[in-house]
Amino acid sequence: MQELEQILNQAEQQFAAVEQAAELEQIKARYLGKEGSLTALLKGLGKLSAEERPAAGARINEVKQKIEAALNARREALQQKALQSKLAAEALDVTLPGRGLNVGGLHPVTRTLERIESLFHSIGYAVAEGPEIESDFYNFTALNIPEDHPARAMHDTFYIDEKHVLRTHTSPIQIRYMQAHLDKYKHLDTMPDIRIIAPGRVYRVDSDATHSPMFHQVEGLWIGERVSFADLKGVIADFLQCYFESDELKVRFRPSFFPFTEPSAEMDMSWGDRWLEIGGCGMVHPNVLKHVGIDSEKYIGFAFGVGVERLAMLRYGVNDLRLFFESDMQFLKQFS
Ligand code: PHE
Repeated sequence: MQELEQILNQAEQQFAAVEQAAELEQIKARYLGKEGSLTALLKGLGKLSAEERPAAGARINEVKQKIEAALNARREALQQKALQSKLAAEALDVTLPGRGLNVGGLHPVTRTLERIESLFHSIGYAVAEGPEIESDFYNFTALNIPEDHPARAMHDTFYIDEKHVLRTHTSPIQIRYMQAHLDKYKHLDTMPDIRIIAPGRVYRVDSDATHSPMFHQVEGLWIGERVSFADLKGVIADFLQCYFESDELKVRFRPSFFPFTEPSAEMDMSWGDRWLEIGGCGMVHPNVLKHVGIDSEKYIGFAFGVGVERLAMLRYGVNDLRLFFESDMQFLKQFS
């Protein structure tokens, strides 16, 4: 049985020389496989006499176990090596500084809208909304601007089709809100006051340093049994003084014309030694109230509309309105 020692030696050497797991399994077959040398020896046992057989069998098995042990040891070693090199290759450098997360911020126009909303909220105004694609009826007719009336030319309108426009102002929200309010309280003899602001995007065919084809307005509306022009002046002056955090700020009303208010005025505010126009206003025209079915003998109220970008530009010292809509991060980051 000299042969057994040789086989064991040879197996151990070959296992040690192998570097690839797959190759190791091939070599294993040379010894332990169906055609392997140990298997052949085991098969040969049958040729031995009954006395010789147990001892020879025991020796072969002993060598077989040693070969299996060597094989397992090598297999394990190769697995460890593979794992180590994988870990080395995929190593993370945990000492590298992180990339950090950029913190987002609100757009200056959004900030301005939120500021306006919270100021009006504090004096009891609800926030109302309406669609940006508006019917001709809500945008004009219900606001006392009949078809073919020259007042329609005051607005450079984007038409969607013959009956629909991109709303040119937030005033149609007045109409929608009054209708819904009236419907909601039709069971009461006297409807509760309407007190809303309506912020939103509006559109006009216009573009230069102080005009953008899309801009924002905030509409205000207060309808009740005894709302006066003095209330309008008070609300506007208070709002602007709070918004700009200045008791010195003055408000001026210039007579003007809007089809949906009578009398109408243009509102200016003092800015240093200048007057700046910030919007239009007036007492809601009886025809507008009649249009939605509100008794214009019983109810009266005011409406106003201010340009949001104008307020944002003044508060933040921005001199070109187009900067708000160019998505330039350098500019926008200053506000977050
Ligand atoms: N809707 C008017 C405009 O856009 C502003 C306005 C609103 C005037 C409410 C009077 C009352 O020019």
